Amino acid sequence: MSEATKEQAREHGLIARVFHWGFIVVFVYALLKQLDAIEQLQDPDLLRFEMVFAMGFLALLAVRFTYMRITMPTALPASTSPRLKVLARAGHLAMYLSLATMAISGLAIGAIYSSGSPEGAGMRIAMFFHENAILVAYLSIGLHIAAAVFHRLKGDGIWSSMVPIWKETQN
Ligand code: HEM
Ligand code: HEM
Repeated sequence: MSEATKEQAREHGLIARVFHWGFIVVFVYALLKQLDAIEQLQDPDLLRFEMVFAMGFLALLAVRFTYMRITMPTALPASTSPRLKVLARAGHLAMYLSLATMAISGLAIGAIYSSGSPEGAGMRIAMFFHENAILVAYLSIGLHIAAAVFHRLKGDGIWSSMVPIWKETQN
């Protein structure tokens, strides 16, 4: 697979890679600790923990997004077709937006619950966003991983710009 194209992707830097893989650890932890029912929020310690965690999650996402925007949001070379660039950008944005929506709707659930009206329309709307954001996140992450594997099979260096294993045998 050493068939290097004229313009290979540049590697993402160490900080970008730590953000990418470190965030996945945080995300998996968030999934493992997910709540099963709203009644669990009766425990004030759990409610406080969930709120602090969601704020940290959101802050981490914002810092990572800003860092990537001002450095190198994608390793796709300049010669990539505009359609593919838009597709990649849309895919990345879908992940950021769905993950942010999960945290923001979680914060809304906590705020509404604390204000003493857990049965109202506000809570139903917040729950709707919370439950559907996770579906969009799973879908966009699934497509993202499929796209990464596709690039690996193409051997254009995008996979190796971020993933430390199964690299193309170049350099
Ligand atoms: C929770 C799971 C994941 C999320 C949320 C995620 C998110 C992202 C995002 C937003 C980017 C764009 C750069 C950035 O803003 O950091 C990116 C880049 C990338 N990710 Fe993931 N990723 C995930 C899992 C994976 C996995 C499992 C793989 C490989 C098997 C992978 C491979 C890549 C590659 C190759 C790039 C570079 C793409 C480019 O430079 O255009 N990602 N990822
Ligand atoms: C980044 C932060 C968060 C993530 C990633 C997250 C993730 C999840 C996931 C994956 C589920 C399961 C959804 C489903 O089965 O459809 C869930 C359920 C739930 N989450 Fe969160 N959550 C976060 C923050 C919060 C916060 C801050 C609260 C409230 C204080 C909260 C309250 C709930 C409740 C009440 C449920 C159960 C919904 C039901 O009855 O099925 N979450 N969360």
